[in-house]
Amino acid sequence: MPGVTLKGVGRRFGALKAVDSIDLAVEHGEFVTLLGPSGCGKTTTLRMVAGLERNDSGVIAIGDRVVSDAAADLFVPPDHRKLGMVFQSYAIWPHMTVFDNVAYPLSVRHVARAEIRARVMAALKLVEMEAYAGRPAPALSGGQQQRVAIARALVFEPEVLLLDEPLSNLDARLRAQMGDEFRALQRRLKITTLYVTHDQEEAMALSDRVVVMDKGRVLQVGAPEEVYHRPASRTVAAFFGTPNFIEARVTASRANGRDHVLAIEGAGMRGDCRAAEAHEPGDAVLVMIRPEDVTLDSAGPLSWQGTVVDGVFRGPRRTLTIEAQGRRFTVECRATRAASVGDTVTLSVDADNAWAVRP
Ligand SMILES: Nc1ncnc2c1ncn2[C@@H]1O[C@H](COP(=O)(O)OP(=O)(O)OP(=O)(O)O)[C@@H](O)[C@H]1O
Ligand SMILES: [Mg+2]
Repeated sequence: MPGVTLKGVGRRFGALKAVDSIDLAVEHGEFVTLLGPSGCGKTTTLRMVAGLERNDSGVIAIGDRVVSDAAADLFVPPDHRKLGMVFQSYAIWPHMTVFDNVAYPLSVRHVARAEIRARVMAALKLVEMEAYAGRPAPALSGGQQQRVAIARALVFEPEVLLLDEPLSNLDARLRAQMGDEFRALQRRLKITTLYVTHDQEEAMALSDRVVVMDKGRVLQVGAPEEVYHRPASRTVAAFFGTPNFIEARVTASRANGRDHVLAIEGAGMRGDCRAAEAHEPGDAVLVMIRPEDVTLDSAGPLSWQGTVVDGVFRGPRRTLTIEAQGRRFTVECRATRAASVGDTVTLSVDADNAWAVRP
């Protein structure tokens, strides 16, 4: 099963560069998610891979086959690209049974009756819906309808699956469950998947790699842990949760295998943090610290003092707002850690969990 390659792919709508020269290589069997705020160009990118939108610059290939090359005026239409698609708005047809819905892509391709039957039932089995084949489509829950849509996308054994926010119409619990099921199915079938969402948790839970997009451009591509703990910029960092940022100055910098250890000073703290690149003493950096990585009560490699100004109980954990040096920090701690407004606390962070980016 092939991968997908985009080289310098772009699309304008009038003066707007909806997608601005994207480079991306999805390995075969890989699950890659396009993640970014509304209007950043995710759907347009997916539609160009599908052939529903024409790229006005760059080259798109599925496996070794170039399906669109703007400069060479080459364009393979969608029905010749062997793609399966599931879209948020791509509801299943209410006037048909589950079986007929899934059979549709094969019927329009004039596949023989007996073969249609075998392939539809196999696709329904994959999503554990074979018992529902005879049901009218409206007599299904949202999650079941989405499974039928996935079965329909899989029925003609596409080389690549494209999914645009396929779970966004479901409630939170069902979304998490369908996400896990879909991930397991994708792993089992090893089908190359390009997925679109603006939900960071969904992106992290499902993907081998995440493509963080903003304003038509790719900001970073990496494994979920990498984009979360080692963001390339403040924008990428702020896209996941509510990180704390501290302005600091570098006092020393040394290489440390994959990354660099910086000694920093600023905002009432001094200590070590990590960075992707080497820095000069005196350089200004922005240090990202995730709320759940702050430890209370024990001094560590990077520590400072503050005063509790607010605490919110959230069941499994407690969110504290702590003021130090005139700035506010968000800290997630165990709910059993009692904290009253006005308490003085010591905050500390491991060098591994303090990540410096350029301001
Ligand atoms: N057919 C079109 N004509 C004009 N502008 C368009 C068209 N399609 C998309 N755009 C614009 O291109 C930009 C990117 O749109 P796109 O649908 O790709 O965003 P998105 O990342 O999928 O957003 P969302 O998360 O809201 O679905 C937006 O500013 C959008 O308004
Ligand atoms: Mg979209």
